[in-house]
Amino acid sequence: MESLEQLDEILSCRLDVGRRTVKPCTVVIFGASGDLTARKLIPALFHLCAEKQLPDPFRIVGFARRLKTSDAWRAELREAFQKFSRPNEFDAAQWDAFAPRLTYCPGEFSDAAAYQNLRAQLDGLGDELLRRNLVFYLATSPSQFAEVAEHLHEAGLLGREDGWRDGPRLVVEKPFGHDLASAQELNRELTRFACEKQIYRIDHYLGKETVQNILMFRFSNSVFEQLWSRQSVEQVQITVSEKLGVGGRGEYYEEAGALRDMVQNHLLQVLALVAMEPPVSLEAEAVRDEKVKLLKSIRPFETGQMAASVVRGQYAAGEIDGAKVPGYRQEPNVKPDSNTDTYVALRVLVDNWRWSGVPFYLRTGKRLPASSSEVRIQFRPTPHVLFAAQCGENLDANSLTLRLQPNEGINLRFNGKAPGINMEIRPVRMQFDYHAEFGAYTPEAYQRLLLEVIANDSTLFIRRDEVETAWGIVDPIRQAWAGLPLAKTAFYPAGRWGPAAADELLARRNHKWRMTSDIAPKPEKP
Ligand code: BG6
Repeated sequence: MESLEQLDEILSCRLDVGRRTVKPCTVVIFGASGDLTARKLIPALFHLCAEKQLPDPFRIVGFARRLKTSDAWRAELREAFQKFSRPNEFDAAQWDAFAPRLTYCPGEFSDAAAYQNLRAQLDGLGDELLRRNLVFYLATSPSQFAEVAEHLHEAGLLGREDGWRDGPRLVVEKPFGHDLASAQELNRELTRFACEKQIYRIDHYLGKETVQNILMFRFSNSVFEQLWSRQSVEQVQITVSEKLGVGGRGEYYEEAGALRDMVQNHLLQVLALVAMEPPVSLEAEAVRDEKVKLLKSIRPFETGQMAASVVRGQYAAGEIDGAKVPGYRQEPNVKPDSNTDTYVALRVLVDNWRWSGVPFYLRTGKRLPASSSEVRIQFRPTPHVLFAAQCGENLDANSLTLRLQPNEGINLRFNGKAPGINMEIRPVRMQFDYHAEFGAYTPEAYQRLLLEVIANDSTLFIRRDEVETAWGIVDPIRQAWAGLPLAKTAFYPAGRWGPAAADELLARRNHKWRMTSDIAPKPEKP
């Protein structure tokens, strides 16, 4: 007779067996001296290599302006990796096995000759597949995407037909444009040189385990899917909160703000996964079709009614974990009278059969009391008889919380009898915890995403119509804010949950933000 663990093992199902093939290839990183490369891309590739997930052979070429040797680049990356890695993450022997795969190619993004150099360097790679199968990762400023793509095309590097079937792959980081018009323009530019199948638009939230689990959770469990609609759900809250301020990113953030930096991409992506219809298959296009359909059913924000459904805020000086921190306007490279939003809360309505009338509350902000991302599905209360009639407001409605980070897991909250001779009802939690169940390992989002690019699976990347639809949703909000200074009430002290208007947004329907589960106060006794 099998043990429970053995039975779970038998019932587990590998979906990617036979689907994912990784062929030898070369990844060229544009912006090789940048932060993203040192902090995210190289560590992700290092881990993939240590876990033997990368094809063999495999090469990484760094392309950037500064003149330096491959050895110098490797030394820089090693130092950064040691500095930023978690304890015990850096292993010198594994690094030494990984490092020979890295080479450096100096060049200006605007210099056609530099791309000829790059081509010569690639042509010099011993293995034929390394020369032909190419990934170009644009870890550059978005304003350089089109220029790099054009030069790659001119150097004959984007149209190689002797490698992968659809040609070399082009990975672009966010932000993809700064509004609908610029995203459309960027799409037009990129597709002059590469077809849509070659383009991988990154949203790193889609690489997170817990975000991927939303689909698995919803569509492999009949229990929850039955409840996933207006019949049972009263409201949905999606929170992505951060304790951090903008730090050294003031210049970028002044242009972006929370709406562009977080809502247009990460929050709308999470919303799409939570609310979309089941796709007809797990193929990339089927999944992305459903996400786009969902985004298209979001009710447009109308200029005159913005105040009823959108709140913006900006952090002022305050305290985080007992330490004093400056306000946003005092951060480096931020205008002293800046009106940039560091906090946004929205009431989103999805006009389709499943969700009609159910508010989706989205909020994100910097310098909030916790760094925590979660989706809370708040179910309808029981009818006002029996316990509800007696307990009134004190009887909590059921909720299901998908904890995206940290303490990844899922909570189901329901009511139970507290033991004892008294009749006491109180909320209790049923809890699934990733770490307790599977151990402490959750791969970094970039690990997963880089592997998907190499394996040619674009499910976790944003399609052209998807990015444009998402901009179409937030553009009217941005336009309504343009030129309007922040009201005094929009400022919240660092360390608080945003401006009071965010509470009022929910209070209008008698709803309340629920604190993220990890810091929720003990419920009061009825
Ligand atoms: C990035 C934003 O896309 O996501 C940052 O530009 C933000 O401002 C970050 O801090 C949050 O990502 P994560 O993975 O830390 O939740």
